Amino acid sequence: MLDLTIALAKGRLADQAIDLLEAAGTDCRVVREMSRKLILTDEQAGLRFILAKPADVPTYVDYGAADIGIVGKDTLLEENRSLYEVLDLGFGTCRMCVCGPEDLAGRLDSIPNKRVATKYPNIARAYFEARRESVEIIRLNGSVELAPLVGLAEVIVDIVESGRTLRENGLAVLDTIASLSARMVVNRVSMKMKADRINPLIQSVRRQLEQAGRTTP
Ligand code: PRP
Repeated sequence: MLDLTIALAKGRLADQAIDLLEAAGTDCRVVREMSRKLILTDEQAGLRFILAKPADVPTYVDYGAADIGIVGKDTLLEENRSLYEVLDLGFGTCRMCVCGPEDLAGRLDSIPNKRVATKYPNIARAYFEARRESVEIIRLNGSVELAPLVGLAEVIVDIVESGRTLRENGLAVLDTIASLSARMVVNRVSMKMKADRINPLIQSVRRQLEQAGRTTP
């Protein structure tokens, strides 16, 4: 019987998520098979993996189409859904930052009605609202660092990992909004109804993280 569905974020985090689940004793061979299938089923283990766009993983888990999701904290903050965030998985670490030209450092609030370009409009809006700064949010889909370079926006809100993209484009971190990493999330109903199945999985992943010396909340 297929009793557990895990949603993985396609892209950067998927490989590390699979490595971790496997190290924790979950057979992930079906996911490793090179294919374009979006649902990968291991009948014997009663397990099903779905491969979703990162930004959609919280939606699948929130509606119960998946019981468990592995997704970046950036997406969780942006989507702000009511899920159980059960584990910090310790990989995919980076920061959500306000970035812009170096000469704005320390005087971010000196520009009234700034334009802020971002893939994360909700995070950006919440940050500037908390500072009582009035801004215009411009939603982009990627290569956000381009916006201040061509006058589309004064600053950006984006992920900084190594800092290389900023450096190579003459931009700097002006403020850090949040530390980010991959998280395991669980649907609220599944957490209760499938506790027998989900709790051991959480425990084995937690043990694996502890053995690997990664911190967990
Ligand atoms: C992300 C992010 C930055 C970059 C940061 O972009 O949006 O642009 O990585 O990494 P760095 O600090 O190591 O240079 P991604 O590669 O996901 O592509 P995107 O710009 O299309 O979103």
